[in-house]
Amino acid sequence: MLAKFGALAKAYTVAELDSQIETRPFRRGAGTLFAVGASTPFGKRIAGEPDTMRRLAPMPPKPTLLDFFRLRFAPATHVLQSADKALTAGMPEEIVIACLLHDVAQALMKADHGWWGAQLFEPYVSEKVTFAIRYHQALRFFPDHAVGYEYPAMYNLIFGKDYVPPPYIEAAYEYCRNHKWYMAARQVTLNDLYSFDPNHVVDPAKFTDIIGRNFKQPKEGLGFDNSPVAHMWRTISTPDVPL
Ligand SMILES: [Fe+2]
Ligand SMILES: [Fe+2]
Repeated sequence: MLAKFGALAKAYTVAELDSQIETRPFRRGAGTLFAVGASTPFGKRIAGEPDTMRRLAPMPPKPTLLDFFRLRFAPATHVLQSADKALTAGMPEEIVIACLLHDVAQALMKADHGWWGAQLFEPYVSEKVTFAIRYHQALRFFPDHAVGYEYPAMYNLIFGKDYVPPPYIEAAYEYCRNHKWYMAARQVTLNDLYSFDPNHVVDPAKFTDIIGRNFKQPKEGLGFDNSPVAHMWRTISTPDVPL
């Protein structure tokens, strides 16, 4: 699978990755909806992907979370497989939905996606789910041998083999490590699959009941409920509007 990501198959240094910024048609930190070759999970262009934007299907007037999975986050293979792993392992529903949602904000923004994701979902999920989404990002950099979590080899490719997380990430880790919900965030990292199996197709509809019990779907539709994050959902709905 690594070969699919071309240059990502090699572990560069932080400086080498930095030197590649002006060789790309997009910024690595911006969301997939803003990048050419919209299926690039790590901001890397995949050979054979189109050179220009593709038209997005219109959203229904009162979009639900599942509509976003179908029309904006798709294929969302990574989060669907992660949630399915948590479900198969018999994790509580809050963990399963945290796994399902933990990276989808990357459609909008990849830099600091834990914080963006937590903010995007905060009005609609429990505090614990919000916490798990927010802190999984920082926990990814820090092993916890007691529960079998090691530093992801993939991070040597994504961030550079000599990468050191910045102080705010370390501070977030320290805060989370001592929090009563540490294991909720840790469970997201434990189910955070980087083994994308193209043959393991998980239909988002599989999680309909869990979403129904753990996600407060606004009756006006996501983006139209006047919540503090409604504009974020509208931006995901219509990223082509000029202003
Ligand atoms: Fe993540
Ligand atoms: Fe992830």
